[in-house]
Amino acid sequence: MTNADFEKLVDTTDEWITTRTGIKERRIADENMATSDIAVEACKNALEMSGCSPDDIDLLILGTVTPDYKLPSTACLVQEKLKLKNAAAFDIVAACTGFITGLSISNSYIKMGMYKKILVVGCEKLSSITNYKDRNTCVLFGDGAGAAVVSAEETDRGIKSTYIKSDGSYKELLWIKSGGSAHPYTSDFSFDGSDKILMNGSDVFKIAVKKMADSAKIALEQAGITSDDIALVIPHQANIRIIEALAKRLKIDMNRVFMNIEKYGNTSAASVPIALDEANRNGIIKEGDYILMVAFGGGLIWGSNLIRW
Ligand code: ACO
Repeated sequence: MTNADFEKLVDTTDEWITTRTGIKERRIADENMATSDIAVEACKNALEMSGCSPDDIDLLILGTVTPDYKLPSTACLVQEKLKLKNAAAFDIVAACTGFITGLSISNSYIKMGMYKKILVVGCEKLSSITNYKDRNTCVLFGDGAGAAVVSAEETDRGIKSTYIKSDGSYKELLWIKSGGSAHPYTSDFSFDGSDKILMNGSDVFKIAVKKMADSAKIALEQAGITSDDIALVIPHQANIRIIEALAKRLKIDMNRVFMNIEKYGNTSAASVPIALDEANRNGIIKEGDYILMVAFGGGLIWGSNLIRW
């Protein structure tokens, strides 16, 4: 969907969307495609790139806020579709921080010796929870998935530090009010938008910049390096102005910050792994580089991973 498509749907303009968000296009999945179907495509690519077979994977961690069903987990559906017969599988709900949180969990499991090859996927069909009558939110979101295989290896490369923090007092800044056990759908329920994403954009914006910068600094400190050592920052792709403000706070030039928001919009848990994959496939990342990934999302929850590639 292009900005021109939104000009026909709501009172907006390409100029407003481009200058306020940096977004030009988003990818929207077919009606008959569920989040697990998008995830499967990303996971197949990750398996192929890592040289692993489905039998090698002993854990699948899937981050999403748009599961196929409330029960069972989308991870179990992906496990079946990919025939990961030796794997455990579960979902995590950490909104846009889903992939960062998944990597953090995988790092701990691998260090404990519990699993050896973990498939981590961030995947969303945000079009299924977007209110296309609300100009404040609908122009922002897109569908997608990105995945990575995390392996136990004797090497100096890999995940060097991770940090995650949340604050539930901000729960109503970004949420879907209805449809859960707190506000279940009743026979006279009016589908007036409370069943879709509700967001206070300007408050989320301010908190996002501060918390992402704080968490990035903590991940750097934990790893004993500074922002000068970072080859590339891969931030959650929510808004170009948030990304620029983050870079300023970290004193990192924008030529060391990866952005693809113009093509995909905000894909929540999928945003960081899609960006990581594009940066890698485009040859921007070199072996030995320090890569800083940082995100924030509904919860609110925020976090960062520092990786030596
Ligand atoms: N087109 C035209 N005008 C618009 C649009 C639009 N699509 N959307 C809002 N406006 C209007 C508003 O109605 C408001 O008008 P008013 O002054 O007459 O009331 C005006 O633009 C300014 O609104 P603000 O909200 O102050 O605009 P802001 O500069 O903050 O930009 C935005 C809005 C883009 C949403 C920004 O706040 C933002 O990016 N926030 C962060 C959102 C985010 O990253 N969320 C991530 C979470 S995703 C997850 O967890 C699933």
